[in-house]
Amino acid sequence: MTSSQQIVLATRPHGHVKNTDFRHEETPVPPVETGGIEIETLQISIDPAIRGWLDDRPSYLPPVAIGAPVRAFGIARVTASRNGDFPEGTLVRGLVGWQQRQVIAAPDANWQKIQPATGVPLEYHLGILGMTGLTAWAGINDILRPQPGQTVLVSGASGAVGSVAVQLAKVAGARVIGIAGGAEKSDMVTSLGADAVIDRKDPHWRALLRRAVPDGIDRLFENSGGPMFEAAIDLLNDHARIALCGLIDGYNLPERPAGPSNFGMLLTKRVTTQGFIVLDYMDRATAVEADLAKLITTGKLAAVQTVLPGFGQLPGAFIDTFSNSRPGKVIVDIQG
Ligand SMILES: NC(=O)c1ccc[n+]([C@@H]2O[C@H](COP(=O)([O-])OP(=O)(O)OC[C@H]3O[C@@H](n4cnc5c(N)ncnc54)[C@H](OP(=O)(O)O)[C@@H]3O)[C@@H](O)[C@H]2O)c1
Repeated sequence: MTSSQQIVLATRPHGHVKNTDFRHEETPVPPVETGGIEIETLQISIDPAIRGWLDDRPSYLPPVAIGAPVRAFGIARVTASRNGDFPEGTLVRGLVGWQQRQVIAAPDANWQKIQPATGVPLEYHLGILGMTGLTAWAGINDILRPQPGQTVLVSGASGAVGSVAVQLAKVAGARVIGIAGGAEKSDMVTSLGADAVIDRKDPHWRALLRRAVPDGIDRLFENSGGPMFEAAIDLLNDHARIALCGLIDGYNLPERPAGPSNFGMLLTKRVTTQGFIVLDYMDRATAVEADLAKLITTGKLAAVQTVLPGFGQLPGAFIDTFSNSRPGKVIVDIQG
């Protein structure tokens, strides 16, 4: 019997996630029964959302159980199959978790088959052509739908989702303002086409933000929450729209923070606010992937990503995501 390395949740994190919240284990991989497949993980997506899945509180997915491999999206290859729909060698994308190998007794539609086009790096199917791209597309093209000339603010603009959202808002003809942390990431967001970037580490960021949106904000792609979200609400125009994508500012706090103190402005300004979860867009994933691939081919969309080699990058790559060391999408290539 073969075995698999995995990283399991050892204890529920309290506040900032740390190495000791996880445990490395080696576990046997059972034989494949009729209808089942064995897969080997190739790449794992690093997502801040994983932090929320480690907490024991009601959410859109159940909490990761203590002792279970940490839940994560990834790409895997079928290495043994007793299921005609998933022959050996098929590439699949789904919740592979932080583990090298596993048997799936009854693979269903949650395991999407992928066929990378010639010249398209595999990791794009986890990032810009995967959940990350789909999330940005849902927020910009389905929820916000900015009109040419409108002002769109994207927080977390240097991140995986934000870097795609900035570019999609530009494609829509909007004036795009990004929020990023530090000069280097701000320059990167400018290079993606943003008309202005606010460095959230600048002590004068509030004044800079106000100056960057002289006509107010029409559309807000919200990735961060926290003080910048509150400042953005102050600057929203009447009948503005918010795509509420993420609230990373609060993910590592022991208690969920209270909402913005100016919440009432959403009422007085008649703001449409829509929270969304990318999993609700899975039925559109193939069509969106084709749209995004076309934008990449025509030079209107660029991937910002870092691929880290080796299973040993876990859990460090995930912990690092909250210290904001790397711009764009981070992927662990566990065979690397
Ligand atoms: N709704 C959904 O279905 C869905 C799907 C995917 C992701 N998300 C959410 O979308 C957000 C972005 O995800 P991602 O995959 O792009 O993550 P990411 O690549 O880690 O990017 C997050 C960015 O947020 C910024 N940031 C970090 N801490 C911050 C803070 N305290 N205040 C303000 N900005 C902060 C960082 O950029 P700077 O340091 O440059 O500011 C970082 O690059 C997250 O909140 C995530 O949970 C939601």
